[in-house]
Amino acid sequence: MAKFDLPAREKFGSKLGVVAAAAGSAVGLGNIWRFPYVAGENGGAAFLLIYLAFVLAIGFPVMLAELTIGRRAQLNALGSFKKLAPGKPWFLVGLMGIGAAFVILAFYSTIAGWTLEYLVQAIGHGFSNKSTEELKSSFEAFQAAPLRPVIWQLVFMFLTGFIVFSGVKKGIEKSTKILMPVLLALIIIMSIRSLTLPGAMGGLKFLFKPDFSKITWEVVLSALGQAAFSLSIGMGTLITYGSYIQKDNNLPVTALQVSAADTIIAVLAGIMIFPAVFAFGIDPAEGFGLVFIVLPNIFEQMAGGYFFSVLFFILLGIAALTSTVSVLEVVVAYFSEELNMSRKKATILGSVGISIVGVFATLSFGPLKDVVLFKKTIFGIFDYMSANILLPLGAIFIVLFVGWYLGKKNVQDELTNQGELKARLINVFMVIVKFIAPVAIAAVFLYGLGLF
Ligand code: PHE
Repeated sequence: MAKFDLPAREKFGSKLGVVAAAAGSAVGLGNIWRFPYVAGENGGAAFLLIYLAFVLAIGFPVMLAELTIGRRAQLNALGSFKKLAPGKPWFLVGLMGIGAAFVILAFYSTIAGWTLEYLVQAIGHGFSNKSTEELKSSFEAFQAAPLRPVIWQLVFMFLTGFIVFSGVKKGIEKSTKILMPVLLALIIIMSIRSLTLPGAMGGLKFLFKPDFSKITWEVVLSALGQAAFSLSIGMGTLITYGSYIQKDNNLPVTALQVSAADTIIAVLAGIMIFPAVFAFGIDPAEGFGLVFIVLPNIFEQMAGGYFFSVLFFILLGIAALTSTVSVLEVVVAYFSEELNMSRKKATILGSVGISIVGVFATLSFGPLKDVVLFKKTIFGIFDYMSANILLPLGAIFIVLFVGWYLGKKNVQDELTNQGELKARLINVFMVIVKFIAPVAIAAVFLYGLGLF
């Protein structure tokens, strides 16, 4: 055991700090960029309903399972499994999570880079007096360019590395506490503008009036993948963060607050985007570029649009940053604790490695757009593979581990803080992690991929 008693592991400071850091991980481009684009491609309201059901029935329990593993083991995503299940192959789940972190950050940093470009454009009055068509074609020209998007991606990776290097607590905790509420307020203001545009009703119907004829297993899998991606579950981010949570934190409450915050922001992002999509005659199934085409159009039509656009892209960039930091931290915690590297070396190695792979994802909108597999570009493959394959697979093994290997006694101990808190729904939780969640995820996964 002695090997695991690492001295002076960093801990999150306050209770609010824990929630802020975990919510900072969850809330990001997944809510504001990915949720609208995936919902748009998958028919809107019916997708939203399934998504919400997954967050509640699967997302929340998986999140709690991850926090339980991490806080119990006090180690990174791979080390946690090694410590709790010595000599067993469970560590492979951690390894897969570290692989997933690599893939996610490689394509996420592309979009994060786009946010920086849009911030600079907003500052330079880039959206004013432009028609919907002009805004769309300038986005398309930017996205396909060979250099600019790559530079922004690397800038973003540098920022991420810088924060991870300075340590989780100092870097992340402080910023999210202040910025998340401001982001929320801004999304509400923009939703109001979007809702008052002529033609907005079509968007509300699209988002809230379900048409179940649009549901296929593929749609269901996309909803599951989006729920996992948005909640940051299935790859060990929350195992890693769980290991920085103090022993007196109420994990179920933390998980509940984080899932609720994440879901509210995603739904609000939908309310901000879809009315405008319909008002401006944009195709909701536009794909990866959807919000980058829609948002500038909203600012164009808004009193104080200049001010709001600059503020919005600053906040979006920061929301993305608190997510990328949590992804890189998975890799860095693994490198430093398992491979005995210094934090500095681990950060440099991780971010440089990911950046190299990431450049290919970015270039797949331009110079490499013809490199396709299964009708998907490199970016498309990374995006699909992580959300719809790696995260659901990781989630299955995480719940199975907690349900069957860790077992009720350990789980109860961890969730009640050694008996300090009441264990009200522990039996429900155990049934979910032992049976319901693994079976449901496996079924959706197999049917959704057409393997069944
Ligand atoms: N949940 C983050 C977002 O919505 C992305 C993320 C996925 C972060 C997986 C960590 C792990 O932007």
